[in-house]
Amino acid sequence: MIYDLRLSRAHDNLRLVVGAGAEECASIAASEIETALGERTNPVLGVATGATPRRTYELLVERGVSSDGVHLVLLDEYIGLAPCDRRGFAATIRRRLAEPLGIPPDRIHVPPVGRDQSHEPCEAFERELRDLGGVDLQVLGIGQNGHIAFNEPGSPLDSRTRVVRLSRLTRENNRSLREAGGNDDRAGEVPERACTQGIATILEARRLMLLATGERKAGILADAMLGPIDPEVPASAIRLHPDVTVIADVDAARLLPVIA
Ligand code: GLP
Repeated sequence: MIYDLRLSRAHDNLRLVVGAGAEECASIAASEIETALGERTNPVLGVATGATPRRTYELLVERGVSSDGVHLVLLDEYIGLAPCDRRGFAATIRRRLAEPLGIPPDRIHVPPVGRDQSHEPCEAFERELRDLGGVDLQVLGIGQNGHIAFNEPGSPLDSRTRVVRLSRLTRENNRSLREAGGNDDRAGEVPERACTQGIATILEARRLMLLATGERKAGILADAMLGPIDPEVPASAIRLHPDVTVIADVDAARLLPVIA
């Protein structure tokens, strides 16, 4: 079952695709990503981590999508992990997507998490994105408190790449999701800080695709899609973008009017 609807005439920039479940959403997302990658030479794909897009990336690998000239740009990364720590977002993307697709390390772009936490490395990262010609398609998840990337509630809509302190809710949610080496999936604390693309940085991508699955995302997805565009719900800012696709399963889309 796939609905493909505009949320309302007032939101012409925003397409909502509702899949029956997480698997169907992943399949739709993977197909849209594959199409987008095929439309350009040297396409730039913005990748979110978190549990939601995991299956989408698996499908891209299973389908053997062409990675010719593809660049990957990460939204965010923890501060304080060793570069080889399997729990880091860059390590996760390398392992789950880049290596299986044959995308070399010099085509993976990660927000800076080195010792120098001044503005300079963050500005250099923004320049790096501009030099790439910008992100063609940005995949996004949504945090339970409405964050996108690590832009927590209260993040200014004009924020750029910067170091942030993570909320307790985000750290708790991510603790249960983090992967560790071996069989111990509870190892280690979630770092308190991260470097994240800002909301304004994210909105510069040519196209946004937000994925949300499961009942626990229903409330915040409805707030983000139907409430005011408000820094307290950072994901609401995607409605300012001219070309957004939200892919949600019926559980996550439960409170959106198209399902009622
Ligand atoms: C993390 C990431 C986000 C991600 C979000 C949702 O904190 N920084 O980029 O979208 O959480 O994660 P999940 O998909 O696991 O719910």
